Amino acid sequence: APQKVPMSPHEPNKYINYQRIQDNLEIVRKRLNRPLTLSEKILYGHLDDAVNQDIQRGVSYLQLRPDRVVCQDATAQMALLQFMSAGIPDVAVPSSVHCDHLILGEYGAESDLARAKEVNREVYDFLATTCAKYNLGFWGPGSGIIHQIVIENYAFPGALIIGTDSHTPNAGGLGAAAVGVGGADAVDVMAGIPWELKCPKAIGVKLTGRLNGWTSPKDIILEVAGILTVKGGTGAIVEYFGSGVESVSATGMGTVCNMGAEIGATTSVFPFTESMHRYLVSTGRPQIADASRAFAHNLRADEGAQYDEVVEINLSELEPRINGPFTPDLMTPLAKFKATAQEKDWPQDISACLIGSCTNSSYEDMSRAASLAKEALDAGLKVKADFIVTPGSEQIRATTERDGLLEIFRQAGGNILANACGPCIGQWARHDVKKGDRNTIITSYNRNFTGRNDGNPATHGFVASPEVVTAMAFGGSTNFNPITDTLTTPSGKPFKFTPPNGAELPARGFDAGQDTYQAPPADRSRVAVQVSPASQRLQLLEPFAPWDGKDVEEVPILIKVRGKCTTDHISMAGPWLKYRGHLDNISNNMLIGATNSENGEANSVRNQITGAFDAVPATARDYKARGVRWVVVGDENYGEGSSREHAAMSVRFLGGAAVIVKSFARIHETNLKKQGLLPLTFNNPADYDRISPADRLSILGLTTLTPGKPLTLRVTQPSGAHFDIVVDHTFNENQITWFKAGSALNHIAKSNSQ
Ligand code: F3S
Repeated sequence: APQKVPMSPHEPNKYINYQRIQDNLEIVRKRLNRPLTLSEKILYGHLDDAVNQDIQRGVSYLQLRPDRVVCQDATAQMALLQFMSAGIPDVAVPSSVHCDHLILGEYGAESDLARAKEVNREVYDFLATTCAKYNLGFWGPGSGIIHQIVIENYAFPGALIIGTDSHTPNAGGLGAAAVGVGGADAVDVMAGIPWELKCPKAIGVKLTGRLNGWTSPKDIILEVAGILTVKGGTGAIVEYFGSGVESVSATGMGTVCNMGAEIGATTSVFPFTESMHRYLVSTGRPQIADASRAFAHNLRADEGAQYDEVVEINLSELEPRINGPFTPDLMTPLAKFKATAQEKDWPQDISACLIGSCTNSSYEDMSRAASLAKEALDAGLKVKADFIVTPGSEQIRATTERDGLLEIFRQAGGNILANACGPCIGQWARHDVKKGDRNTIITSYNRNFTGRNDGNPATHGFVASPEVVTAMAFGGSTNFNPITDTLTTPSGKPFKFTPPNGAELPARGFDAGQDTYQAPPADRSRVAVQVSPASQRLQLLEPFAPWDGKDVEEVPILIKVRGKCTTDHISMAGPWLKYRGHLDNISNNMLIGATNSENGEANSVRNQITGAFDAVPATARDYKARGVRWVVVGDENYGEGSSREHAAMSVRFLGGAAVIVKSFARIHETNLKKQGLLPLTFNNPADYDRISPADRLSILGLTTLTPGKPLTLRVTQPSGAHFDIVVDHTFNENQITWFKAGSALNHIAKSNSQ
């Protein structure tokens, strides 16, 4: 029988429940009578009711009991504000909050961190006291990036984790199924309500061969992104298997799973490997290492498990890739990068190279990157581009500092920023490039949408392995191929990099560095949470009004969006992050990045009542003031990107009734439902073209809203003529109760008070 092992050194009284996985799987196996994939085992192993749960991949909604909830500081504010308003004294499952998103990278770790503590004091105090009050672990500013801390402390093979950040799947590197969710989902689970997930399909990625030379785990996911594209993983879990898996480190698998978010996958998972065992031992969890090894038969796919799609990659033949610009699935092999950059007229000078982040901060990453930097440094070379390092955690920082790796980067001309997201989330005060200047940057981060890193739409962002990024910093140009080309040293000699080498784990063990963790106090009754009514950053929530029981009748279209519309377009990050806990203030960023189909411009729409063009949020506020609701019409994969529920909350707050698109990204669609909005899709995507911005839309059939039954969208043209089109929805019974209550939270609060 599985042994009793604490889930984390920080929570010695909460145990891993392998027994439940085993019991559930016994029931599910009898019912399904077929081999199971790994992700099926983990998910079904966490079913709330394995006996009665309907299980059909891509169809059913699973009711699940996650082991853990993790929140980063930007999303935690709204999640905790929501949790507070549900009136529950204590989180129902182990949960933690991580301060990583609000630290602006400018001069370097020490001064940037000191300033962030000052600037964000009221938010950090709110989070620290709320965590203490409601029994959550609190990782303060400087502790590191959520996903790195989760893999170092909390993830374990077979775990089911939800996190209010889209790169939560990073924990797949330790064999966990970790899913990025909106704050509202986190609130459900913290409130003890089962978490609902549409039963994912399974995409298998078979790895053969062995990683070698310049190729790193990053290149696996860059290749997968190129094959499957940003939409390819939608509604699916990506499962890796095959003999090649054994040559990948746990942290390398973390990188692969992390960036699975870029193809829209629900999450990505790896089977139990000896590299996971090594990582668990090295991070102070030998008991978990042994328990999971003993449970390994349930931590891999059954022989003959069926996938909905299979991709095969031979690691022995895989070569480094550089993906971008502007989208992570535009894949170019490093060998062709120079020619492609010239052909496509990408800016050839590289202005900045950035390594680290939650995606690529492991000891292995840092030591391999440092091996290249050291070699170049020894030859007398310095970086030509700005070179920036964001360590993923205090533990990684302290360990790589102790082992001299950070010093190598500094000597080569690099700048070490705080253990935080920094430039990855647009928290980057750049002084070298003006807004509008075309320039190229290469990062080992995960996401490279327009304006993501520095808010400059003319910055061409590329993503590559930390090794390639580091070497490119010395080359300084897209014309440099570090594998084949030479650089010239100050003494005029040719210099060529040898392939990187590093260590999977630190030989001397990890150094935990400074203690930045705050455990909840034993007596939580006297902890007071304060939110000032005058605060510009935090605002207690007012519930949204329940559904009025009527159809939506002839409302204006706030904006008909053309083309890509990610959550960054809907609820921009960067400077707006500071208003994450203040719904009214943050709503001033609503949809300001989306392109209006009428004029091809961002943040300029015609007010259908006054006829004047104005900013999108201002126009919405005008409709709201007049008591007029409105809808958004959108294109394909609407809401791809992050899990931020503000992208849904602002639309609701400013009076939106529905978002009608060709297709949705999963998390955003669910978030819209949670806020009491109607996410609808054109049954015939071509109907998108039949709608003009000046039309009025009615949504008919709401009084008989039923799972699987389409609704009618009546389009009334300015002439008064109208036509009907069919729109689909994915509401299930439970989600319909959210719509009727006005939001999922209204529904929770109501059930709680009964
Ligand atoms: Fe932070 Fe970027 Fe990761 S924003 S959580 S470092 S994706």
